[in-house]
Amino acid sequence: TKSLTILGLESSCDDTAAAILRQTGSDAPEILASVVYGQTELHAPYGGVVPEIAARAHAEKLDLSVEEALSSANVSLADIDAIAVTSGPGLIGGVLSAVMCAKGLSAGLNIPLVGVNHLAGHALTPRLTDQVSFPYLMLLVSGGHCQFLIAHDPEKFSRLGGTIDDAPGEAFDKTARLLGLPQPGGPSVQKEAENGNPKAHRFPRPLLDRPGCDMSFSGLKTALLRARDAIISDKGGLTVQDRSDLCASFQAAVVDVLAEKTRRALEIYMAENPPTPLLAVAGGVAANTAIRARLETVCADRGVTFTAPPLTLCTDNAAMIAFAGLERFKSGARDDMSLSARPRWPL
Ligand code: KG4
Ligand code: ZN
Repeated sequence: TKSLTILGLESSCDDTAAAILRQTGSDAPEILASVVYGQTELHAPYGGVVPEIAARAHAEKLDLSVEEALSSANVSLADIDAIAVTSGPGLIGGVLSAVMCAKGLSAGLNIPLVGVNHLAGHALTPRLTDQVSFPYLMLLVSGGHCQFLIAHDPEKFSRLGGTIDDAPGEAFDKTARLLGLPQPGGPSVQKEAENGNPKAHRFPRPLLDRPGCDMSFSGLKTALLRARDAIISDKGGLTVQDRSDLCASFQAAVVDVLAEKTRRALEIYMAENPPTPLLAVAGGVAANTAIRARLETVCADRGVTFTAPPLTLCTDNAAMIAFAGLERFKSGARDDMSLSARPRWPL
C-alpha cells in the first residue's frame, strides 16, 4: 500500500517545531517525530512574547528542528512527499521564518508545499489523536487563543464566538505575575487554588448577561489587582492563604465563564443533530484540571463525549500542522512560491 510522508513546520508564536507524519493507506497517520523548541526563558524577563526575539530564535532553531525530526524519525529528505507549514495567523516575523524555510526546501527538493492555518492545526488535532468524525465542537483555549468552532470538514469551520480581549492563559499568567508566582502562570495558579476558598472573592463573570458565545477576561485581572491591593493596604502584605484564596476565586470565575459559554456553544452545535456529538478541547489551558472537570460535567449532562488530545499535542507543535497539511494535500490543495505569511487569518 502507498504511504505518504509529510514534514510539518511551525513558528507562529514562541515555539519552533518540526514534525514528520506518515500515513500508510487509510490507516491512522503515525507521528514519526515531533520536535519542539520553546522560548519561554527568552521572553521571561519581558513578561510576554517579544516578536523580534521570537523571530530570531525561530530562524536559529528551524534548521536544527528539521534535522532532529529527520534523524529521530530515521527519514531522509528524499523520503518526504510534501511539506506543510503554518502560514498564519501569528507574529509575522515568526510565521515568515518557517514559510521561508519550507519554500526553500520545497524549491530545492522539488516537493509540493501546503500552507496551513495554525488554528486549523489545533482544531483538527482530535482527528489525529482520536480519529473523531465531523462535525464536532472544538474549544481552543490557550495563552493566545480562545474560541468555539464547529469543525465540518478539514477546510470548513464555523466560529461560534470567542474572547473579545485576553485569552484565559494570558489571564492566568498575569494573575501569577501579580501574586509573585512562577511562570507559566496556569500551573502555578492551579496549584495555589487547591488550598484556597473559591468564594473568598466574588470576581466578575463578564458577558454572561449577553447572548452568544463571546467571552472577556481582561476585567478579571483588574478585579484581582484591586482585591490584592486592598489586602496589602489592609494588612501590609499577602499571607499564603490570601494568595491561595485569590487564585481559587480567580480560577472559579474562569471556570464559570467557560462552562456557561460551553453550554451555549453545545446548544448551537446540538441543533445540527450531529450523529456522534463530541466536544474536544485543545490549548495549554485545557490542561487545567478544574476546567476539565467542569466541562466534562457539562458534556455528560447532555450526552456529549468529551475529549482532549494529550498535552504535547494540545499546545503548539508541528505534528498538528503536518496533519492539517496532510488533510489538505489529500484533498488536492497545493501552494507555490507565492504562498504568503498572514499575520491575521480567521478560520
Ligand atoms: O497552548 P499553549 O502552550 O501556548 C500558546 O498559548 O501559544 O498555552 C500556554 C498557556 C499559558 O498561558 C499557560 O499559563 C496556560 O496555557 N496553562 C494553563 C495550565 N497549563 C498551562 N492554564 C491554566 N491551568 C493550567 N494547568
Ligand atoms: Zn497555538
